[in-house]
Amino acid sequence: MAEHRTSKGPMAYRDRGEGAKDPIVLLHAFPLNSRMWEPQVEALSEERRIVTPDYPGFGRSPRTPAQPDVRYYAEGVRALIDRLGLERVVLGGLSMGGYLAFACLRLFPERISGLVLANTRPDVDSEEMREGRKEMAHRVSREGVAILTEMMMPRLLAEQTLRNEPEIVESVKGMILECSPDGVVAALGAMRDRPDSIPLLKEIPVPTLVIGGEDDAVSTPEVMGEMADEIPGASHVTLAGAGHLSNLEDPQRFNEAMEDFLADL
Ligand code: MLT
Repeated sequence: MAEHRTSKGPMAYRDRGEGAKDPIVLLHAFPLNSRMWEPQVEALSEERRIVTPDYPGFGRSPRTPAQPDVRYYAEGVRALIDRLGLERVVLGGLSMGGYLAFACLRLFPERISGLVLANTRPDVDSEEMREGRKEMAHRVSREGVAILTEMMMPRLLAEQTLRNEPEIVESVKGMILECSPDGVVAALGAMRDRPDSIPLLKEIPVPTLVIGGEDDAVSTPEVMGEMADEIPGASHVTLAGAGHLSNLEDPQRFNEAMEDFLADL
């Protein structure tokens, strides 16, 4: 893995590979960091440049100064691609990364040449989810990020992964423990108040891959299917046996779907 670099903005990032085609920028899930994209970086950087940032307060990025909204993170992504001189990128995001990809689409659509929406959803939080996020933020402030390893694991990984894939489980726990409590609380607030992206779907002007896991209870195959139906010309792939972190749970088929999609871009 390439060394971490700082953008001199709010986001540290990993940068690997090169090629004539548009680089890929992959946005991570909550509460993880850019390391979650290692299987994709390994496979896809043979032909393209891949940049994977850590959001403020996650991985190696310093924490955010105030309560951000999703636009704040998207501005960070734009500042990073500006700094790297990337004119247009293929943008992908998993879960929270997808919420941020929608924010990027609002902010700089002209810089995005293809979109990957993985295990994410376009709608806003229900009242119950909003309350759950407030409670989680209070607990993380009081007790630290370690409680997330208990609270989040059943959401993040399919039951069979939790049972049979100790390396994946440990790697996900390790990433969770690297988050700063402030970064987690900030991200929870931004996700809680994110805008509705359903109206955006019909307007997405670029080739889009919607990819998820059959056993994802957060962004179910139904939600992903409905989202794909709204996006003009989108392709939809569901990975059997994978949960919410489908890129880690079934990297081979996730990468194959990405490679098929990228072939025409
Ligand atoms: C994520 O994986 O980024 C989170 O599950 C998203 C969320 O909590 O809505």
